[in-house]
Amino acid sequence: MPVHHSPCTNIIFAPMEKEVVLSGIRPTGFLHLGNYFGAMRNYVRMQDDYNCYFFVANWHSLTTHPDTRELQSSVHRVIAENIACGLDPEKVSLYIQSDVPEIAELYLYLNMLAYKGELEKTVTFKEKVRLQPENVNAGLLTYPVLMASDILIHRALKVPVGKDQEQHLEMARNFAERFNYRYGEVFPMPYAFNFGGDLVRIMGLDGNGKMSKSENQLATLYLADDDESIRKKIMKAKTDQGPAEPNAVKPDYIENLFTLMRLVSGPDTVKKFEDDFNASSSGNCVIRYGDMKKQLAEDMAGFIKPIREKAADIQNNKELLGRIIRQGADKARASASETLKLVRQAVGMNY
Ligand code: TYM
Repeated sequence: MPVHHSPCTNIIFAPMEKEVVLSGIRPTGFLHLGNYFGAMRNYVRMQDDYNCYFFVANWHSLTTHPDTRELQSSVHRVIAENIACGLDPEKVSLYIQSDVPEIAELYLYLNMLAYKGELEKTVTFKEKVRLQPENVNAGLLTYPVLMASDILIHRALKVPVGKDQEQHLEMARNFAERFNYRYGEVFPMPYAFNFGGDLVRIMGLDGNGKMSKSENQLATLYLADDDESIRKKIMKAKTDQGPAEPNAVKPDYIENLFTLMRLVSGPDTVKKFEDDFNASSSGNCVIRYGDMKKQLAEDMAGFIKPIREKAADIQNNKELLGRIIRQGADKARASASETLKLVRQAVGMNY
């Protein structure tokens, strides 16, 4: 890093280093609006002001999807969809987890600092045990350790993720703290981050649980959906007969529709439906959910179309994808190997 000496004083001005940001997405299915809201929108907003590393977590996907026949095309799709959403591979490092073997070595060291009891208590582990009782593998148990390695290998500070990843971040801090305590200060503490506020959780359109890649596909809006599917899904979204009193608190499935509308519709449109909602009471329902959904469907189709088309173009351009993936891996490995040097020194593995 170049250092400038001031001629009249002895003060040294070092250029401010940008904070390190990291996040990842598992290639276990088609990306959806939950991923966009919780993660990718933040990535795009952060790419100019931070030193960003974004990656496709293909090792993590093996914990739940051992069949790898579709893995390669999923990985390519995730890369293409990230770029289609506005990520610029010249500004950030966009890479594939398995291209950075340094992560696996750090995972090994951190595994010695993670305890069976705490791993078994992780909410996502318990959920996966329920969903796949026939395949409770060690990778599933140590999923949070691999995730901590992804983050710590670049000594990242901010991790833009949705609400569902909060516990994993807390565990990453625990592992980092234990490492620093035992071997010496190497890692800063990473935090889950959402641009401008609380972490986000987008619900499925049926009002049951969070929008997700593999569950209830009819309640999930994918970035690859065509206009007709978008309209159909939104028109089927859960609503009710309207609020019982003026200025009522919105039920979470109605709030979810407003959240989606704020993303894709103009402020006047959102205000009109907010006002209609607030003016409604039982016997005088001003808000018409049918109209609201129709408007949301049109605006959503207009939002998703260019992303879908750009992603398809990029995905078909294997040469471009190959170049982006190699360039991302080079940048990520340069940073990862620097951290690993410090880790090996601290642990005493530098013979
Ligand atoms: P994954 O692949 O499940 O999801 C990718 C990102 O999308 C967010 N997300 C949501 N946000 C709001 N509402 C939703 N309904 C919703 N669904 C998904 C997730 O919070 C995430 O930010 N364990 C991670 C992948 C990972 C990772 C990492 C993330 C591996 N290593 C290191 C950050 C740092 C996961 O399964 O995300």
